[in-house]
Amino acid sequence: MNDFVIEAKQLTKIYGKQKAVNCVNLHVRKGRVYGLLGRNGAGKTTIMKLILGLTSVTSGEVAVFGQNIRGREKRVFPRIGAIIETPGFYPNLTGTENLEIFAKLRGTAAPGAVKNALEIVGLPCKDKKLFGKYSLGMKQRLGIANAILHDPELLILDEPTNGLDPIGIAEVRDFIKRLSSEQGKTILISSHILSEIALLADDIGIIDCGVLLEESSMNELKKRNSKYILLQVSDVPKTSLILEREFHTKDYSVQDEHTLRIYDTSLNMGEINKFLVMQNITVTSSGLCNDTLEDYFKKITGGEGIA
Ligand SMILES: Nc1ncnc2c1ncn2[C@@H]1O[C@H](COP(=O)(O)OP(=O)(O)OP(=O)(O)O)[C@@H](O)[C@H]1O
Ligand SMILES: [Mg+2]
Repeated sequence: MNDFVIEAKQLTKIYGKQKAVNCVNLHVRKGRVYGLLGRNGAGKTTIMKLILGLTSVTSGEVAVFGQNIRGREKRVFPRIGAIIETPGFYPNLTGTENLEIFAKLRGTAAPGAVKNALEIVGLPCKDKKLFGKYSLGMKQRLGIANAILHDPELLILDEPTNGLDPIGIAEVRDFIKRLSSEQGKTILISSHILSEIALLADDIGIIDCGVLLEESSMNELKKRNSKYILLQVSDVPKTSLILEREFHTKDYSVQDEHTLRIYDTSLNMGEINKFLVMQNITVTSSGLCNDTLEDYFKKITGGEGIA
């Protein structure tokens, strides 16, 4: 048994001749916030629809709570809260009235569920304002309130901050974080904004043209994209040994047979270069690099950035 709440294996969706999702292997771990990052048309919504069984799988498979959702919807849906595209609220009813209807439809019996959900997303309860008169930000919040109404273990949120102003984005980010840290929810969230995912997610999946290019923890990704010294030498094994024995650092990685990255930037590179040369190691180049996540994203998608 693993602790994946969602696991996709070779998941593929073909529309006509287009592979909207192409052999995706995705792993969402329990209690984590997983950010699915990709530009418009990358395949984010399609992946979420496949997970939820809202569209049929062409090939591959996807398991939620360890099993395929198809045929088990009645048992599994109460454990999931999702917003994929805008939910159909009634414009001539208030937010509270709308949620009360959805709560009844779903059989959410918990007293105070509507009030609680509204509170979490920062909307007033028993407010007289009709949904039709809501701003976009309020509509988004009501959508999320509706998704958390039945206290699900897993939340699937497709671009929940779309169209919000910067303060609204920060507020939504804040309560999504709280749902994870205080209530232990597992959350899959999509976005096309790198900075947003970077601030929110524990794990990240980068998707482009239907292909999941990268899946890693945010910490790992940040580490790989912080400041480092790029060192090109004639003998990498010998250089590694010297770094460890003479300069007492293990904070480096080997890139290829001639290249190392040293993450401990406090080291005296002049001394290191001198030492290496004395040991007959040719230093072709050595310099400080500062790749940002943005650079990294551009590099792996081969594009000109995303935010
Ligand atoms: N029902 C459909 N029929 C045909 N093609 C579709 C359908 N749904 C999505 N696609 C195509 O699949 C690709 C992926 O679409 P998807 O909506 O999953 O992307 P996305 O990453 O969610 O994009 P966005 O950021 O714009 O929401 C796109 O090229 C889209 O045109
Ligand atoms: Mg989408």
